[in-house]
Amino acid sequence: MRTITRRPTALLMAAALLALGLTQVAGASAQQERVDKGGGRRLPLVIGHRGASGYRPEHTLASYRLAIGMGADFIEPDLVSTKDGVLVARHENEISGTTDVAAHPEFADRRATKTIDGVSLTGWFTEDFTLAELRTLRAKERIPDLRPDNTVFDGLYQVPTFQEVIDLAKRAGVGIYPETKHPTYFDSIGLSLEEPLLATLRANGYQGPKAKVFIQSFETGNLKELNRRTRLPLVQLLSDVGAPYDLVAAGDPRTYADLSTPEGLAEIATYADGIGPSKNQIVPRDADGNLLEPTSLVDDAHQAGLLVHPYTFRNENNFLPADFRQGNPASPAYLRATGDAPAEYRLFFRLGVDGLFSDNPDTAVGSRHRYFNR
Ligand code: G3P
Ligand code: CA
Repeated sequence: MRTITRRPTALLMAAALLALGLTQVAGASAQQERVDKGGGRRLPLVIGHRGASGYRPEHTLASYRLAIGMGADFIEPDLVSTKDGVLVARHENEISGTTDVAAHPEFADRRATKTIDGVSLTGWFTEDFTLAELRTLRAKERIPDLRPDNTVFDGLYQVPTFQEVIDLAKRAGVGIYPETKHPTYFDSIGLSLEEPLLATLRANGYQGPKAKVFIQSFETGNLKELNRRTRLPLVQLLSDVGAPYDLVAAGDPRTYADLSTPEGLAEIATYADGIGPSKNQIVPRDADGNLLEPTSLVDDAHQAGLLVHPYTFRNENNFLPADFRQGNPASPAYLRATGDAPAEYRLFFRLGVDGLFSDNPDTAVGSRHRYFNR
């Protein structure tokens, strides 16, 4: 199998410049790709995180449809497999938190305890359901305490297939940003995600580095495998805690922090086109949630020729840094109240991100319009 090199021009240039000690120019090619034809900076992408999950139960067609209506450039399905090998949109394979499966007596005997990525979980798992069985369930709001308004939609929507998400995105002309969830685990049970993912994308006409798709993963091994099989854009997800599970399983001591150093980013650039870091890796917070000085991650990634798409932007005080929370902390509604989310978007736009994952695409799009005046 041919090994596909990511952004060959940028990487060859980076290698040559590194040899000459001229690292500050190494990201020039990526820089050019972030400039649009009009000569201005290309607007950061707004990625509808699990759709518009601030307003609808996540990973439902209603949530994706709303994200599109709010102006998202991409919609994000997390992908897991059914028993019969169909890719469906769920954040994890254990579905008791986002569906009404526990209320279905016919599936009571499917309740199981499994170890997923080293964590013991008890519940119901997509790989134990055929697609037809899964379709009898209905989605529900994951965090009803923080998003009580969304519970009015509980029980209305099915778990969508990846194909249905693609159909919706193609009709609307927006991109898709699929994430492989627990790829090592799904490999281990004979339901590998990568083959149906690539086959589905191919069948739907997604091909080449300019396709309106980014494939993302928190693991490294499956992205490297995908890099050998496709030229579609790939994104390495990172975190402010922990390590990729495939590295843990292999006894490799490297953590996400190691991958986020200039050396780690240079290696990521050999198989991926961008990184998806946690917001905290770009602007850390102290123990009280106050913002600290930004790190060099955005610049370091750009130097390596990588795009930067941080996650996850949400309107509620609960998720915002202390600096941007609004209202009375003594109020029982304080955590679910809307804070100054536009201030957080402005901060990250100023730091030069190339896109961001948002539960509230309307706020993201509006903040972008205000910040860039276009
Ligand atoms: O994929 C970007 C972001 O969604 C990663 O976090 O846990 O929401 O999938 P998660
Ligand atoms: Ca995701």
